[in-house]
Amino acid sequence: MIRNDDLGPLLRAAPWMPEDGRRAERFECVDHALLGTAARLLIVAAVGGPAAGRRYFVPVRSAPTPTGTEEAHGSAEFEPAVLDALSAGLRLPTARGGHVLFRGAGLTARSVRPLPFERGWSSNVLSLVENDGTPYVHKTYRRLDGTVREPELLRLMNRTGRTPDWAGDYTYTDPADGTRHPLGVFYRYAPGDGIDLPLRHSMRSLWPKVTDGRTPGDLDDLVRTHLRPLAENLRDAGRFLTGFHRDLAGRLGRGPVPPYPVREVLSRATVRAAELASADIALPTAPRTAAFAALRRESTALRDAFDTAPAGFPSGPCHGDLHLSHLLCRPRDDGGWSMNVIDMSTPALGPGEPGWAAQSPVQDLVAVQRALEYFTADEAAFESARRLGADSSETMRGALDGAGDWRPGPRAELRLVFHAADVWRAHVLRLFLGRTADDPLRRLLYLGRLLHELAYNIDHARPYHAAIDLRHALALGARPPAPTLPART
Ligand SMILES: Nc1ncnc2c1ncn2[C@@H]1O[C@H](COP(=O)(O)OP(=O)(O)O)[C@@H](O)[C@H]1O
Ligand SMILES: [Mg+2]
Repeated sequence: MIRNDDLGPLLRAAPWMPEDGRRAERFECVDHALLGTAARLLIVAAVGGPAAGRRYFVPVRSAPTPTGTEEAHGSAEFEPAVLDALSAGLRLPTARGGHVLFRGAGLTARSVRPLPFERGWSSNVLSLVENDGTPYVHKTYRRLDGTVREPELLRLMNRTGRTPDWAGDYTYTDPADGTRHPLGVFYRYAPGDGIDLPLRHSMRSLWPKVTDGRTPGDLDDLVRTHLRPLAENLRDAGRFLTGFHRDLAGRLGRGPVPPYPVREVLSRATVRAAELASADIALPTAPRTAAFAALRRESTALRDAFDTAPAGFPSGPCHGDLHLSHLLCRPRDDGGWSMNVIDMSTPALGPGEPGWAAQSPVQDLVAVQRALEYFTADEAAFESARRLGADSSETMRGALDGAGDWRPGPRAELRLVFHAADVWRAHVLRLFLGRTADDPLRRLLYLGRLLHELAYNIDHARPYHAAIDLRHALALGARPPAPTLPART
């Protein structure tokens, strides 16, 4: 049995433990279950410090370490034991009268072995496990108090071909109040890379072609030609995303589609923009003022657009956290991509749940758009800094305020690089997401997300990232007014 005193060294060193959890005064085991001899499934609470009261799931096993214990995840004992439990539908009682319930899709544990796993950044704990020759990802959720819907979403989306197949999951039922907390999921490994990888490759291989003397018209042709090898893949990716949204809506619930609450969301955005306008961030005043004026004008234009669209705008379930790295692509022999969506956090799973109407597939499109904005601005800031022997925070600032006080040569170089990145992004967006950017719902969701990210960047004193937000806020001012066409329902 692990002593509470030994939990501190184990958990403070755990890579998945967030910073506030590390600063707990101590940790206490509040419940546990035994998974045979393979592992002890601990429910641990932080005592004292900024995360006091927060609970974590920590599977551990005996080991010849100073505390006599190590984390079990990824070990040759724990993985087959979990797979056995999933196939048996095991209901494991906990010490305090709760239970851990395992359920599976009929998988039989057979020659199970952990495989090495090269993966991107993760806030959870993932391992790769081979069962009977097929690789699976085993993800454990460590924070008990967050809302995790991923295992249920994977189960509901099973065999749509949009998400990796679900093989099983397990959930803790708290004896105190009967609440259920997902602890882990097994789902198929989808070989491939996030779509950010081919996009980054395309952006970077554009730079050697962006040379002095290029006119804006030239650049447009250059970028179009440069993107030609990716064009069909990006169109397919857009169709894949549309199909994903259709399947998600089909699996989560049919019935009447409620309207998206555009007015509520717009008033929250308007209030937020007003608050942020006076917030402190180390960026030049003139573009800041102009950016907030553009944001105010956008709010007003959208209010007018909604007033003249009485039919409203449809809601619909969405991914909820669509980073570029959550769209996995694997090149096939025919040149196309096999795609999968991962890491879903759809806000509501059915018409009966709160928040069902306040989601839209368009949110995911906007998430992709914003991700591409950060991505291209970052690449352009870095490339122009490299060319000019400057720092990327200076080039980012120059991109925001127009670099009016720079010498003409460097200024022209900076503008050329950022312009090329903007043209590249516009083409990628059009290929990937089509030409719907002027739809008022999309503009509203874009505005809301930009403000959300700007608030985060201001709160966390990230002027480099806030400069990207403000630069794109400024670009809103250059757009035509929102169309007042009646919306589709
Ligand atoms: N089914 C899968 N197939 C292939 N790679 C995966 C799979 N699931 C996760 N990954 C890899 O692990 C990374 C982290 O996974 P993700 O689900 O985003 O974790 P988190 O919930 O911690 O954000 C992904 O970006 C991807 O590289
Ligand atoms: Mg993720």
